[in-house]
Amino acid sequence: EKGGYEHFMIKEIHEQPQAIFDSLRGRLDAENLSITLSGLEKIKDKLTAARRIIIVACGTSWHAGLLAEYWIEELCRVNVEVEYASEFRYRNPIISSDDVIIAISQSGETADTLVALENAKTQGATIFGIVNVVGSSIARISDAGIYTHAGPEIGVASTKAFSAQLTVLLLFAIKLAEYKETVSEDLRKELIKELSIIPEKVKHILDSSIDNIKEIAVKYQHATDFLFLGRGYNFPIALEGALKLKEISYIHAEGYPAAEMKHGPIALVDETLPVVFVATKDRVHEKIVSNMQEIKARSGKLISVVTEDDQLAIDLSDEHIKIPVSHEMIAPILAVIPLQLLSYYVGIERQIDVDRPRNLAKSVTVE
Ligand code: F6R
Repeated sequence: EKGGYEHFMIKEIHEQPQAIFDSLRGRLDAENLSITLSGLEKIKDKLTAARRIIIVACGTSWHAGLLAEYWIEELCRVNVEVEYASEFRYRNPIISSDDVIIAISQSGETADTLVALENAKTQGATIFGIVNVVGSSIARISDAGIYTHAGPEIGVASTKAFSAQLTVLLLFAIKLAEYKETVSEDLRKELIKELSIIPEKVKHILDSSIDNIKEIAVKYQHATDFLFLGRGYNFPIALEGALKLKEISYIHAEGYPAAEMKHGPIALVDETLPVVFVATKDRVHEKIVSNMQEIKARSGKLISVVTEDDQLAIDLSDEHIKIPVSHEMIAPILAVIPLQLLSYYVGIERQIDVDRPRNLAKSVTVE
């Protein structure tokens, strides 16, 4: 059942090219560079008129939502808020019938997310579900939606469901931008083209980086803390990298926007602290490189996820993991792969039951 892999987690990490491909299939037409999303079509008028979009989720799915906020605001020029379902449901949020709520959930059964949606629905909001499990409670309460086609995810830590969520959310953002005419045809086509080749690029990362990541895992397995830093589109990926490491290795890790370092966490940096930078080339690259220099000046150990041709970042880092050159909006989907692998191999070195880490449940159906 594990298809020759030692654990479900590593099997599911390796299934990501397929999960992404399946989530694009029938939706992205690579020949005509067009996108068809019947789920979105269904609430097209509501969505194009929406005053704001509120994304509600928990955990890893919340991280997918955070990246979607950056994408949707950039491409569709509409306000987006990203909410932890558990906070949203208890704080008497202001919701109107002009709001569209996007719910993101692998299981479709997360109690806090489900109740948050029930409340919002009572107040007239339209619910759009991005769910992996067909026919689940969140799928059923949604007015419309798009399924991720990641297939069953057995490992407790979400991996392929996350990359499938990102794929669907980017499809969503590009299509909504097309409806709203907030993006040029050139950019739209470029993004569609880049999306269509993500499965190959993910496969390339899986084929080329594992030995390197295993060595990094062996070297840093005894660290007591890790920091994960990113900016812009890579900030949510830094949060996700930290969450994966916590879950799978029981090492304390924190994700931060890289520039927030100066406002406190930099006090933690010494020669024992590994700092993982998600530093692919993008509009804020120069800024994150100077954050890397700040950590290096304080003797922190730099482990970086970099664009393969970025010699400057490579030279600065103690360890680096390369990902293929990509559009800045696409790169985070690739950058998460090495972080999943890092948490897996650190967990293995520390002899943790990576498929069933302590205290965690695959589906959190109680609040
Ligand atoms: C982390 C993880 C959890 C889930 C969260 C939401 O690896 O799996 O943080 O992402 O419990 O679950 P879903 O997406 O099923 O609503």
